[in-house]
Amino acid sequence: MSNESVGFKKPKWFVDGFPHIWLPYTQMKTEPLAVPVEKTLGTHIYLSDGRELIDGMASWWTACHGYNHPHIRSAVEKQLKEMPHIMFGGLVHKPALTLASKLVKLLPSPLERVFFSESGSVAVEIAMKMAIQFWLNRGIKGKHRLISFHGGYHGDTLGAMSICDPEEGMHSLFQGALLSQHVVPLPKNEDELKVFEQFIEEHVTECAAVIIEPLIQGVGGMLMYSPECLQGISEICSNHELLLIFDEIFTGFGRSGQMFAMEEAGVVPDIVTFSKALTGGTVALSATIASPEVFNAFLSMDDGAALMHGPTYMANPLACSAAVASLELFEVEPRIAQVSQIEIWLTELLSEARALPNVKDVRVKGAVGVVELAGNLPIDWLRRRFIDKGVWIRPFGNIIYLTPAFSINKADLCHLVESIIQVIEEMNSRGDARV
Ligand SMILES: Cc1ncc(COP(=O)(O)O)c(C=O)c1O
Repeated sequence: MSNESVGFKKPKWFVDGFPHIWLPYTQMKTEPLAVPVEKTLGTHIYLSDGRELIDGMASWWTACHGYNHPHIRSAVEKQLKEMPHIMFGGLVHKPALTLASKLVKLLPSPLERVFFSESGSVAVEIAMKMAIQFWLNRGIKGKHRLISFHGGYHGDTLGAMSICDPEEGMHSLFQGALLSQHVVPLPKNEDELKVFEQFIEEHVTECAAVIIEPLIQGVGGMLMYSPECLQGISEICSNHELLLIFDEIFTGFGRSGQMFAMEEAGVVPDIVTFSKALTGGTVALSATIASPEVFNAFLSMDDGAALMHGPTYMANPLACSAAVASLELFEVEPRIAQVSQIEIWLTELLSEARALPNVKDVRVKGAVGVVELAGNLPIDWLRRRFIDKGVWIRPFGNIIYLTPAFSINKADLCHLVESIIQVIEEMNSRGDARV
């Protein structure tokens, strides 16, 4: 399928540049051409050929306030005039320090030391290094592995891949190239927690930390689990010599219902990672935030005990000022209330999908709505049909899901859900589309 077949006109920059681009998660030989986009505003995406799409994705879950929010835009414009970037080694600046103190005020105690980087995967790599070196700095050797969970996703760099779900992290393809970790089933009830604890008892001397996405495993399929499960895991970690890392890169900043998923479960990890909605979807930024216990283990008269990490663009002032403005928006606009409203709307609207043939499950949490289907989906066909219907929805695996901006209005949300239901009906009626 080419773009002509779905009616796209190609601008010159597309014709000139596309042959030189390598796209993410894309089989470049067979996948349809990407869609040229011109601009964004609020919850809408404007294509080069004049079409307008309602956005159901918030750009991989980042644009929580909608696109181009004037408050974030003016903060970034102001910062651009003053200082777009400065190295963070030996120099500090107002946007980064203001952001660090704002984040710490929002977080439950004792998460209070912020290390900035520029992507979710790197924030996770840093958390892994912190956890491993924490034990080394305390003179305890051999605790160099991490424990993570089936269905989990923590990024695409090699270290992060090693703690992803084995299939998602392509553990067999990359066999020999990945760090050896323990990726175990997520314990969902008392009996499974006992099995997990037994596993921990057997392996604790070689493990530094447990890492988990709290309450929702995003890329693994928007899999939701209970706060009790998270509480059980947390208790087991504190009963044994294990640090606990929460990867809130997907759930953080309202997506799962509260500002942070950890608040709902009432548990606090030793280290937490953030990215995605941290800047309201404006500029790349991530943060790895540690407790004083973790931080203090790096304090020494020995330089070798320091955390040896420092991405060139860490704490970029544009990104930090966008993040400060984004957090200010959470203070002055009713974002978390909007998430609760979206949860109600999604629950009501998506319930119609339950009765459709081939629908295995419908689940909603916060501003995440999921329709899980039976069998493999005709992904390219689905993506094209959604564009035809004027919506930007990007199914993967066997799920069609919505993660809209929290500022979306009911009419747009209805259009998104109606499109999902219509497209599933169409898909069911043309058996040949299911490949
Ligand atoms: C929970 C989680 N951790 C880490 C990452 C990786 O973030 P990035 O794509 O910014 O490297 C993602 C991205 O989807 C994620 O959902």
